[in-house]
Amino acid sequence: MRPLGLLPVDGATLRRADAADAPELLVLQRCCWVDEAVANDTLDIPALHETLDDVRAWLDVWATWCVRVDGRLIGAVRARQEDDSWEIGRLMVAPDLAGRGLGGWLLRLAEDQAPAEVESIVIFTGLQSARNIAIYEGAGFRRTVAPAPPGAVRLVKVRDPHRH
Ligand SMILES: CC(C)(COP(=O)(O)OP(=O)(O)OC[C@H]1O[C@@H](n2cnc3c(N)ncnc32)[C@H](O)[C@@H]1OP(=O)(O)O)[C@@H](O)C(=O)NCCC(=O)NCCS
Repeated sequence: MRPLGLLPVDGATLRRADAADAPELLVLQRCCWVDEAVANDTLDIPALHETLDDVRAWLDVWATWCVRVDGRLIGAVRARQEDDSWEIGRLMVAPDLAGRGLGGWLLRLAEDQAPAEVESIVIFTGLQSARNIAIYEGAGFRRTVAPAPPGAVRLVKVRDPHRH
């Protein structure tokens, strides 16, 4: 994996999210997941239906990182350990700033946070989300046939067993 390097957007700052970030996370995820709705031709996507309380609830159980410029939330990602894997999700970048490398940077950040004992890194996306799947495959993830929510595909990156 490439080293993390500097944030690719001028003036951007990174911080661990807390409950105070929930309102803006709700707005950003609802905005970002419209692309998923279009790509998969469905509105049946959890990120589009969550309430502020839902976002507050997942902030309690996921480690979440926020990127801001001049106070504006422009990107985020969350991750948590599930048994022997590290699950990454809710990778989002404001649409007007897409394509500048921030999504890839946030993905590497979340991977870097995986605990040492974790054997694989897991991420889900829509079955028809060709751009996301290309991004994840480009980052070394591979599609699996393991169970995934309806309409989703599970991508996995197995960690090097000699990394310790
Ligand atoms: C997915 C998302 C986070 C990507 O953010 P982004 O800032 O536009 O992504 P980047 O500019 O960092 O591009 C990521 C990588 O994918 C590559 N890439 C971009 N578009 C690609 C495409 N169509 N095919 C293949 N690779 C592509 C980029 O070259 C980059 O590679 P690099 O890291 O080696 O340079 C953002 O578009 C988003 O918020 N989408 C809506 C929400 C969503 O679907 N999230 C993921 C759900 S699982």
